[in-house]
Amino acid sequence: MPPTNTDEIDSGGVADRPSSDAAAQAPSAQEADAGAGVSTREGAVAEAEPSAALPRGEAPGIRFEKVVKRFGSNVVLRELDFTVAPGERVTLIGPSGSGKTTILRLLMTLETLDEGLIWIGDETLWHMDRGGKRVPANQKHLHEMRKQVGMVFQQFNLFPNMNVLRNLTEGPVRVLGVSKDEAVERARGLLDMVGLSDKESAHPTQLSGGQQQRVAIARALAMQPRVLLLDEVTSALDPELVVGVQDLLRDIARQSDLTMLCVTHEMAFAKDISDRVLMFDQGQIVEEGPPDQIFGEPSEQRTRDFLQAVLAS
Ligand SMILES: Nc1ncnc2c1ncn2[C@@H]1O[C@H](COP(=O)(O)OP(=O)(O)O)[C@@H](O)[C@H]1O
Ligand SMILES: [Mg+2]
Repeated sequence: MPPTNTDEIDSGGVADRPSSDAAAQAPSAQEADAGAGVSTREGAVAEAEPSAALPRGEAPGIRFEKVVKRFGSNVVLRELDFTVAPGERVTLIGPSGSGKTTILRLLMTLETLDEGLIWIGDETLWHMDRGGKRVPANQKHLHEMRKQVGMVFQQFNLFPNMNVLRNLTEGPVRVLGVSKDEAVERARGLLDMVGLSDKESAHPTQLSGGQQQRVAIARALAMQPRVLLLDEVTSALDPELVVGVQDLLRDIARQSDLTMLCVTHEMAFAKDISDRVLMFDQGQIVEEGPPDQIFGEPSEQRTRDFLQAVLAS
């Protein structure tokens, strides 16, 4: 679905659930080729110098305070409390349907908050201060706050009607007010970083899943977020394309100071990328700790059951 308003571009191109983006899911003819000829380091950031294209600046932390989210009678988040420190990398794990995507979508303002507070740095996302009183945020406040957050989705969600370069420049030009020339220059820097300089004129359907996801990562970074959300970003990829995208993200994590909140079932990737892992189930955090502890010696039975199920699958 092409973006129809600034809000959609603003929030990463999706107003609908990611799974509704049939265009992005359609396998392309190039998918198989790309897999065959591609090294596992496809798209990894060059080791030497951190890319100048990576966004910089102070990264805020995140705090959920007694957050409640319901869909009808389904209470998905139950007074959920957790924090991510500035610059920290946190991975959320937990059963399917437990609300992990909802947490990220609330941070992207793609879902509305029912109760509680969500903090980005020292400001609330869904509320603002008016004469010393906390009131619901207006559009301007939401717009300013969500500029700090970028998200990469499971199903890529690129704008199917735009070529790769425009996928990267549309948001910066229309939402951030960056000049076209500057947006193009920055987009080219990012495409170089993700190893797709030669694809700037291609349309998403002409790219493999791995290439589309690398464009989606570059597109998220083009908005110069300070917080990056990753939602099972390799789950829709053919197995041989997974490593290249993970390597790219690992390098971005190493070379940037972004605050990152990541949902993944890939335990090795989670171990590499995370400072801390949160096990989430039934609307609340079950346990949290460094990856070695959560994956090696989880203390909760629910975590052990979940990890066993993931490893068996
Ligand atoms: N837009 C929606 N409308 C109704 N129910 C939804 C919507 N989005 C998510 N849900 C429900 O909320 C729960 C959590 O979903 P989700 O956050 O996608 O879980 P996860 O990412 O952990 O698999 C599920 O029961 C799902 O069906
Ligand atoms: Mg999900």
